[in-house]
Order: sequence, then structure tokens, then C-alpha cells
Amino acid sequence: MPQEPTAATPRVAVIDLNATSSASRLPPEGEARLRAATPEGWQLRFVRGLTVSDGDGQDRPSDEALAAIGDAEVYFGYGMSPPLLEAAPRLRWAQSASAGVRRLLFPAMLERDLLLTNAAGIYGPTMAETVLAGVMYFLRGLDVALARQREARWDKDPWQDPQRSDRPAMARELPECRVLVIGAGGIGREVGQRFSALGAHCVGVRRRPELGVPEGFAAVTGPEGVDRELEAADVVVVAAPSTQATERVLDARRLALLPPRAIVVNVARGALLDEGALVAALSAGRLRGAVLDVFDEEPLPPDSPIWGLPNVLVTPHVSGISPALFWHRMLDLFVANWERYRRGEPLVNLVDKVAGY
Ligand SMILES: NC(=O)c1ccc[n+]([C@@H]2O[C@H](COP(=O)([O-])OP(=O)(O)OC[C@H]3O[C@@H](n4cnc5c(N)ncnc54)[C@H](OP(=O)(O)O)[C@@H]3O)[C@@H](O)[C@H]2O)c1
Repeated sequence: MPQEPTAATPRVAVIDLNATSSASRLPPEGEARLRAATPEGWQLRFVRGLTVSDGDGQDRPSDEALAAIGDAEVYFGYGMSPPLLEAAPRLRWAQSASAGVRRLLFPAMLERDLLLTNAAGIYGPTMAETVLAGVMYFLRGLDVALARQREARWDKDPWQDPQRSDRPAMARELPECRVLVIGAGGIGREVGQRFSALGAHCVGVRRRPELGVPEGFAAVTGPEGVDRELEAADVVVVAAPSTQATERVLDARRLALLPPRAIVVNVARGALLDEGALVAALSAGRLRGAVLDVFDEEPLPPDSPIWGLPNVLVTPHVSGISPALFWHRMLDLFVANWERYRRGEPLVNLVDKVAGY
């Protein structure tokens, strides 16, 4: 149980958000907001040493973080690594500013009675805008326009005479599209809401379809419905967490079910997609295009065939970056969760360590 606060022994919350990338670094106004939300009896300890915010968050804590967490009850940082947890015998709750938690579910984390919350949903609005931009890029043939522009070539044929084009389905609108979103959670819902508002028919896939159809979707299915939905999909967006159950959820067999007009988007994690099979399908013109933000190996190696494919739009794992608006959402969640924690109420975004997200 958390220790009763006294003037001599304040309850300690460690804030470890001084990210190496400035876009992900807690800004001064964020620090001020946290200080203003600190009740009597609590002490905030800000780590100034740098932390890594990429992917599931840091796996090598700074020496300063290791020293700061010794008597802490609460930790707020990017991820949580084995050495940090080991150095924190009194820790009761860790809030990660990353959404992915796969690398956080190491044996000691599973054994410890520690509340772990993540940033599920926080990146959703930003990522949905990236997804929308990437899909429109292919639906309206902007990939081909850009290639022609680079050659100073005025050529309407790919749009006006699609049968003479090497790219299928060059000029489409969203109302003629079926969008399949694998992972109808925080990100998937924001994707579904935007595409539905623009006239597309959106179907979501969630692990527990019995919980209902989230806003933004015409229908929802469980993992067993994926094959059927792929056959009719114009767009498939992968937005599920990386777990054992989602490993290569889009494998070679499933990619082959997609029609040639289909656009594949992966903003989740590289492990959810068979990258080699996708490259083969794109190289053979068996898909319209792919929007890829995440990869098996990051940074994507310079000799990866993906770089050279004209029907791929690569973003370097930046689909969720939004320096201006991220901290509003993230701190809303943390401050509200901190209040819940102090009142002994259930926390929002509590990670199910068995389900893996
Ligand atoms: N590229 C980036 O920069 C970036 C940024 C943030 C997040 N991400 C990745 O995106 C993932 C999702 O983030 P989020 O905020 O949307 O998380 P979330 O709110 O937890 O949503 C997860 C969704 O996936 C569904 N799901 C779980 N297991 C599934 C399975 N086996 N088959 C189909 N659907 C399954 C869940 O189903 P239920 O609704 O039934 O639980 C839920 O709808 C994160 O885990 C992270 O890896 C990437």
C-alpha cells in the first residue's frame, strides 16, 4: 500500500520526459501544469538526463533516472525498462507516454504488482491525419503526378485512360471505398471517424467485438473475420498493438486476398506485416500502393528494396508526432489518472499484461 504522506516523507512521482527529440520533450508549460496539479504531501522529481521516446520507449534509463526512482511511488516516462524497475522497489504505478508496451512486458514486470498505464489513444488524432493523407495520395494518383512532375512531363493518360496505365484505380473517391481498420482502438477509431465522415464504408477489427461497434465504423468483426473483409477492401489500415496474436496479422496469404486496387497502411509496428511479401506484391503490381510508417528494422536500412518502390510512401515512424497538441492530451490523461490513483479508483488505459496491450 502507498505510504501515508507526512511532511518528512513526501510521496514521490518521478517525471522522466526529457526526450532526446525536442518534439517529444515535455515543454516548460507542461512542467508548470504538472507542478500546479501536485497536491500537498507529494513531491515531483524531474529527471533532466535525456530519455529515448522512440517506439515503446527507453530501454536504457539515464543514471539520473535510476537514482531518482529509488524511493518513488509513481513514474511517468517513455516506457519502463528492467533496470529501472529493479531500481524502484516502492513503485506502485508507471504511466508510459508511449502507446506500445510489448517491450515493457518483461518477466519482472509481469511478476510485480505494478499498475502499468500507457498512451493508447493519445496519438490517434495525429496518426489518423497521417493515414488520411497517405491514402488520399494514392486514391487521387498523387504518386504518379509527383513522378511526372519530376520529369517535367504533362501526361493525363494515367487518369483519363486508366486502361493504358500501369497503375490500377488511379482516380477514386472515398465514397466508393471500403476501409478495413485492423485495431479499432484509440488510433483505429480516429481513422474510422475521419474516413466515415468523408463517405467511406469503414469496418473495424477488434479483439473483443462483443464490446460493440466503436464510433466511426459501420460494422466491427473479431480477428476471425479478417480474411473475408480483406477480399473486399479498397484500403486496409493496420493499427493494432504488437502482441503474439497480431504477429504478421497481414502475412503473405492474407496480402494475396486483397484486390489489386487495394492500398495497405501500417502505422502500428513492423511485426504486424510480412514486409517481404508486401514488397513482392507491390513489385509485381498486385496492389495499388502502401503507406508505411513502421518497419521490421528501424531505421529502415539504406539497401531495403522498399526505398526504391514507386508505389510506396515511406514516413520514418513519425505519423504520431504533433508537438503542439500531444502534451495537452497526454497531460490530461496523466493528471486525471493521478487523481484516480490517489482516490484508489481504476486507472484509464490500464495495460492488460496478459492480453499484451
Ligand atoms: N507509428 C507510431 O508512431 C505509433 C504511435 C502510437 C501507437 N502506435 C502503435 O499502435 C498501437 C495501437 O495504438 P492505440 O492507441 O490504437 O491502442 P488501443 O487504443 O489499445 O487499441 C488497440 C486496438 O487493437 C485491438 N486489438 C487487440 N488485439 C487484436 C487482435 N488480435 N486482432 C485485432 N485487433 C486487436 C483492440 O481490440 P479491443 O478494442 O477489443 O480491445 C483495440 O481495438 C500501439 O500498440 C502501438 O504499437 C504506433
